[in-house]
Order: sequence, then structure tokens, then C-alpha cells
Amino acid sequence: MLTFDHVEFYYKKGQPVIDGVSFTIQAGEFVSIVGANGSGKSTVAKLIDGLLLPKKGTVKVHQLDTANSDELLKIHQQIGFVFQNPEDQFITTTVMDEVLFGLQNIQVPREEMRARVDAALHAVQMEEYLEAMPHQLSGGQKQRVAIAAILAMRPQMIIFDEATSMLDPQGRKQVLSIMHELHNQGMTIVHITHHMEEVLCAERILLIQEGRLQFDGDPLSFFETVAVADYQLQLPFAVRLHKTLQLEGPLAADWKEGIRSQWSIN
Ligand SMILES: Nc1ncnc2c1ncn2[C@@H]1O[C@H](COP(=O)(O)OP(=O)(O)OP(=O)(O)O)[C@@H](O)[C@H]1O
Ligand SMILES: [Mg+2]
Repeated sequence: MLTFDHVEFYYKKGQPVIDGVSFTIQAGEFVSIVGANGSGKSTVAKLIDGLLLPKKGTVKVHQLDTANSDELLKIHQQIGFVFQNPEDQFITTTVMDEVLFGLQNIQVPREEMRARVDAALHAVQMEEYLEAMPHQLSGGQKQRVAIAAILAMRPQMIIFDEATSMLDPQGRKQVLSIMHELHNQGMTIVHITHHMEEVLCAERILLIQEGRLQFDGDPLSFFETVAVADYQLQLPFAVRLHKTLQLEGPLAADWKEGIRSQWSIN
């Protein structure tokens, strides 16, 4: 569904930021993109959505090419973005208006709007906050409203760019639960994060270093084969514990299940 084919990108000529990256993400996958600060994760996210265009190679969403400006609107409609700081995402004064705003932008018929708003807020358990002011909500609630605003537009894929990193543990857990739930419903999820506990939710990890793809595989083989400290990342607690205890044999699948269960949906 999403294809990067030998993508190269720079902000300043001669200083490559994305350097020959190729991968395909199928519809319905839950993929985490990880890497050190400045490794190029957000740039990849912006290339996915056509906010940035490759200098070489191609980015395609289904058969739509981001370099083709006629197709860009269709691509934007299929992909939603949730950013790090929920404050930056709010434009209006009530939760309802916030969700309506996006719908007006994509010209959803007026009679369809209210049902979409209600369904989106219900999906993130914020339906009781319809008249609330976004700025008075907790960080986790703000992110849930930001997600609702995107859900109302019915994208096929949502990219979360460090969307949990400013949240307290409860808010983080709620947002991760929503990601899980959306994934279960068939949505494609791309989760960019520094939190290694969180990548255990994903089916697949892409590791980026200095604009190159260093690893593409499942979390279990990631923690077995990659020296994460080399990429300024920390092992999840359960894996650290496992290694500290020097249990024999390869990492058992149960540590993964143990952590996954922490994020499981109630
Ligand atoms: N608008 C820009 N203009 C010039 N250089 C930029 C711009 N945005 C990012 N860069 C540079 O491109 C490189 C990759 O940045 P990017 O934001 O994609 O990394 P990241 O992996 O998302 O980092 P972080 O973990 O800090 O969010 C960095 O060296 C960064 O300084
Ligand atoms: Mg970033």
C-alpha cells in the first residue's frame, strides 16, 4: 500500500538526510519507526504524506505518486498525522469544533458531520467532552481529541510522530490502546517513537540511522540482533531484566507477551 523506492532527500544539497531508503508497508500493518535524534524519522513521515517530496526515488501510496501534484490531495485524504505536542494541533475553541474543522476542510456534507463527530469522539472515549475547551483537557485527553479529529476524516493510515512522548504514563497508555484498537479494526498505524517499551506493540520495526534503513523486522529479532545502545535507544525494562539475569538461550517470546499485555486494551 505504501512504497518507498530508493528514496533520497536533503534539506541542503550535499547533506543527505534520507539516503536510499526502500520499504513497503502493507495495508493494516502496525509499524514502529525508531532511531536516534536527528536520524530522519520525521522526514520519512513527511515524505509518506507528500509534505516533502523525494529528490530521487519515489514514494507511492497505493498507486498514487506523491510527486504528482494532482494526486496529492487524494494522498492527504488517506493519511492522518498526530504530532508530539497536542497544543500545536488545536485551532478552535471546543472539542466539537475541533473535530468539525477537519470535516469542513474536506467538504463533508453538513448532514453527515454530526454522526462522524460523535463516532470519532466515541472511538477515543471523549464523547462526554463535546463542549469542553481543548486547552483545559489533560495531555492524554488532548491527544485523544487530536486523534478523533483525524478519525472523523476516515483515513486509511495514521502516522503518530512521537505522539506519546509528552504524555504522562496514563495518557500514554490510553493513546497506545487507541492505536491498538484502530489497528485491530484494520487501520494502518505508523508509530514513530523513542520509547522502546512501546515498539513491542508493533508488528514490525524500521530502524533509521543517519537517513539509512538499518533494520526492518519484528520486535523480537530487533532486540535479539540490534545493539540498541549504538542508536541512542534503551532496551525495554523486561528485556533488560532478562539480559541482566543472564537467562540462558535466546530471548523467550514471553517477555514480549508480558509487555504487550501492559498495553492491551481493556
Ligand atoms: N526543515 C529543516 N531544514 C533543515 N534541516 C532539517 C529540517 N528538518 C530536519 N532537518 C535535519 O534533518 C535531519 C533529520 O531530521 P528529522 O527531524 O527527520 O529527524 P528525527 O529522527 O525525526 O529526529 P527527532 O528524534 O529529534 O525527532 C536532522 O539533521 C535535522 O537537523
Ligand atoms: Mg522527529
